[in-house]
Amino acid sequence: MRATSLAVLLLLSYIFAIVAARAVEEDTAVGAPAALAPGQAPPLPKPHPLAEPRPSNQVGFPKVLSQYVISPTTLRPARVALGQKLFFEPRLSGDGTVACATCHDPARAFTDGRPASVGIQGRVGQRNAPTVLNALYNKTQFWDGRVNTLEQQAVLPITNPFEMGAASVSDAVARIAGDKDYQSQFMQAFGRAVNEQDMPSAIAQYEQTLASFDSPFDHFIAGDANVISDQAKRGWELFNAKARCHLCHALADNQRDATLFMDNDFHNIGIGIIRHNVVALAQKAERELARGHLAAIDTAAITSDLSVLGRFLVTREQKDIASFKTPGLRNVLVTGPYFHDGSMQTLWDAMDHYNKGDGLNDPWLDKDMQPLALTEPEIDDVVAFLASLTSAQYKVIGDQEYARQLALSKVSRPQRDTARAFGPKRKQPEPPPF
Ligand code: HEC
Ligand code: HEC
Repeated sequence: MRATSLAVLLLLSYIFAIVAARAVEEDTAVGAPAALAPGQAPPLPKPHPLAEPRPSNQVGFPKVLSQYVISPTTLRPARVALGQKLFFEPRLSGDGTVACATCHDPARAFTDGRPASVGIQGRVGQRNAPTVLNALYNKTQFWDGRVNTLEQQAVLPITNPFEMGAASVSDAVARIAGDKDYQSQFMQAFGRAVNEQDMPSAIAQYEQTLASFDSPFDHFIAGDANVISDQAKRGWELFNAKARCHLCHALADNQRDATLFMDNDFHNIGIGIIRHNVVALAQKAERELARGHLAAIDTAAITSDLSVLGRFLVTREQKDIASFKTPGLRNVLVTGPYFHDGSMQTLWDAMDHYNKGDGLNDPWLDKDMQPLALTEPEIDDVVAFLASLTSAQYKVIGDQEYARQLALSKVSRPQRDTARAFGPKRKQPEPPPF
């Protein structure tokens, strides 16, 4: 009798241990996302504690800038709550399987962990999902900046055939219009019935609450000298000098910028360019893609090989061929894989890319790219600095991800080319005739 109850107890505690371990795993996630059956959209993330609006009293929160980008007259709790619900709403997609959160999962710092996002019916797009955290501060949205505001952004994935695949925005809205909860929430938030103007506006308001600061680096800047390692401190110095990162990941070249680590600008830094014949693609875009047609650009960027043309799709200027928006670097440790095409696995790979000043045979390479001659310890320093930009909510997965990337970097450094990193800047080819 005693033995039996002990066995039951053991069994129970075993089950609880499994359940507890599962709960932690599900809470936040790093590493490779779930494999998908052919033709199947990724699983829909559940509403999650990390999806909640972030407080404005976080250490490092840029008060003045935030007042400038968020309009306090329109930001209302009822609209934010509605937007948060819509962000998880699969009925906005063509077959009811995909929501914004599918690709912007709060447990993964609002990304999906995949090189390129997967949408409705398992369709694989061309681009890596950026985080939505701090997107409120972006002057333009998307890797190529094809729209300026979060409201304009929010409608495009809904109708993109590889993302949410709705026939039209009004079609998507019609599918939630009969829902009693939405009816009362729209009424409460906007004082009118469910409609297609207020829907993206609610989503945008929710996104305006996703400011993510409060990283060890923010505490360091606020005066807590010992909260980051000496390695990370050296990395911050390198970032602003020898490693030349500040030339693009800062608002000004001549002044340290500890806020967003971007310049609201576009650069060709040589990602993916070697694998594509961009001149032929640019000519194809000129022939086939209507100029300034936003929906056509959106479809091309996500579903076709023209995607690699980047900013050129928007401006049609030769200098913008294969140039992409400088992403902010906050939470970068937990938003891999990296770059617009998700082509790099670790921050060490990203460093190796910059160290060799990549872009061989790339006539449009940004003039600020050049070999850096960073030593291995210096590369580790910059990575430690980048890791210190992880917000407190993602500390646990950040630590796991750092260990994972470090281990991977010990066995795999596909981008490393020490001879080029320590060699002279190579002569850049002239742009070919167009
Ligand atoms: C199938 C995956 C997928 C879905 C669903 C999706 N997104 Fe995205 N999102 C992406 C990808 C990929 C990009 C980058 C595309 C590009 O730059 O061309 C992106 C870009 C963005 C950006 C721009 C961020 C930046 O830094 O430029 C925002 C904001 C955003 N998405 C919000 C949303 C919202 C809101 C929804 C729902 C209405 C949504 N996304 C649905 C994959 C997705
Ligand atoms: C000439 C401008 C420029 C310089 C210099 C530069 N970057 Fe970047 N960075 C960019 C652009 C543009 C992208 C996106 C490019 C793409 O995806 O095609 C990017 C992307 C990244 C990414 C990937 C982020 C993500 O979310 O996928 C990391 C990490 C990064 N940079 C770190 C650094 C570091 C560290 C340095 C210094 C060693 C540096 N950058 C120097 C412009 C620059």
